[in-house]
Amino acid sequence: MRKVVLLAVVLAAASSGIAVSSRQPVRARHAMVATREHHATDVGLAVLKSGGNAIDAAVAIGFALSVTHPSAGNVGGGGFLLARFADGRTTFIDFRERAPQKASRDMYIGPDGKATKDSLVGYRASGVPGTVRGLEMAHKKYGRKPWSELIEPAVQLASQGFPLSYGDARSLRSKHTSERLSRFPESKRIFLNDGKYFEPGDRLQQPELARTLQRVRDMGAKDFYEGETASPLAADMQAHGGLITLNDLKNYKAMERKPLEGAYRGYAIITAPPPSSGGVGILQILGVLEGTGYEKSGAGSAAATHFMTEAMRRYFADRSEYMGDPDFYKVPVSALLNPKYIGHLRQSIDPEQATGSPKLHPGNLGAYESAETTHYSIVDADGNAVAVTYTLNDGYGSAVTAEKLGFLLNNEMDDFAAKPGEPNDYGLIQGEANAIQPRKTPLSSMTPAIVLRDGKLYLVLGSPGGPTIINTVLEVFVNVVDFGMNIADAVDAPRFHHQWMPDALYMETGFSPDTIALLKARGYTIKMVNAQGEVAAILSENGWLEGSADPRTEGTARGY
Ligand code: GLY
Repeated sequence: MRKVVLLAVVLAAASSGIAVSSRQPVRARHAMVATREHHATDVGLAVLKSGGNAIDAAVAIGFALSVTHPSAGNVGGGGFLLARFADGRTTFIDFRERAPQKASRDMYIGPDGKATKDSLVGYRASGVPGTVRGLEMAHKKYGRKPWSELIEPAVQLASQGFPLSYGDARSLRSKHTSERLSRFPESKRIFLNDGKYFEPGDRLQQPELARTLQRVRDMGAKDFYEGETASPLAADMQAHGGLITLNDLKNYKAMERKPLEGAYRGYAIITAPPPSSGGVGILQILGVLEGTGYEKSGAGSAAATHFMTEAMRRYFADRSEYMGDPDFYKVPVSALLNPKYIGHLRQSIDPEQATGSPKLHPGNLGAYESAETTHYSIVDADGNAVAVTYTLNDGYGSAVTAEKLGFLLNNEMDDFAAKPGEPNDYGLIQGEANAIQPRKTPLSSMTPAIVLRDGKLYLVLGSPGGPTIINTVLEVFVNVVDFGMNIADAVDAPRFHHQWMPDALYMETGFSPDTIALLKARGYTIKMVNAQGEVAAILSENGWLEGSADPRTEGTARGY
């Protein structure tokens, strides 16, 4: 009898798409922080406990990660900060890198007409960094605690050092990373222990970075962009053929933009506008899914995966053509999200068979994997929510450490279309809308997102992972909203990614072999990957905050 009841429960759960819980989120009553690295989580939590708000915590975590998570945490890169305040106001701070004034459309095309590797490694790969200006802008407008107090923990972590985790030590000695970093003496000295490498538990001390952070602590972003940090940075660039000048640094501006807003099944979604392609992406894909009943087949089923993949494929075809910096190109956001257009996309999906990507082109609107960006989510005791995704682009960016300054520089120039129509480092095809121009912002996929239910804060999330970010954020969202998972299970569940071209469905290990066989029978080329994305998410429900860092990483969620 008991067996029969149990079977009935399991069948009911499967048919309604409700997953059986396997992991518990971290729970707290007042405030929560979820980041990729535990020192940074602790720094953020301490700020919140001592009366700082979510913006203060975001600033302190951003600087702490620049010390403790050098592959992606940064002052030499850029990113996006999305906030929703308890009183309902929202903001989006774009501190993404900009192309230097001397950048030009064909700067990465070699004499043979092919794209070179200069957008990926070395001094010419960097855009003008935005992190310090962006975090300062957020703090000046919305912070509560003194700036110096927020930078001090990062200064201490850099000067006193911290024990490297297993994952970070392993990452630093991986073949790909060590080959890149050892090309630049300063990077080799600091991050590869001068070629002797670090073991897990070894202390990483960064005195040069500590001094840079001290100046930022004492003099603010002005030092970074016009003072004692700017001058050696520009000189180092000039000495090594880089393009960033003192003027580029001085002229760098962070921008406050209006977040993109949309709705799905009564949930309000607040997310990243262009120059991110992520917000438009999740809203278009969700629009295609809404009302189809795709979720009835259950999370991880071939039928649900098929429908989601087809929606992803269609968006990425549009992305290749229509997305770029809105200050240089009129991004057709409303057309891409027009319900009639979305209806047309939905109707074009064959419920049984994959649509081969070569048959699919960007819509007529007139009528892999690098996980080395990082995301953190914060909710404070007042109910203010902040989602920050920032990056050096590839792990350890361009591999160049600025002489005497101790920080790695980004290789964000590779997010432009070095040669429109040809794949970049992520295999992404991008068009003229994202061609290089001086002072332009490269198109991003970073998708910090905040979700409301009945007008109240419900979910804060985001992920690294280049173009996979869009699909990762989408999947965690639907795992909660459509498949009824708790936030920990929603983050744990295996993920998949399709980006139109290359025409392959990337699936994490963890999917059932039956699902994979069924998808192959529908016409998909499946490529298995170890991990996709690193989500840091917080869910707010029934007076509790539930946090989850990603078990694919060494991240932590902590609250009080
Ligand atoms: N650099 C990854 C992104 O911005 O999408």
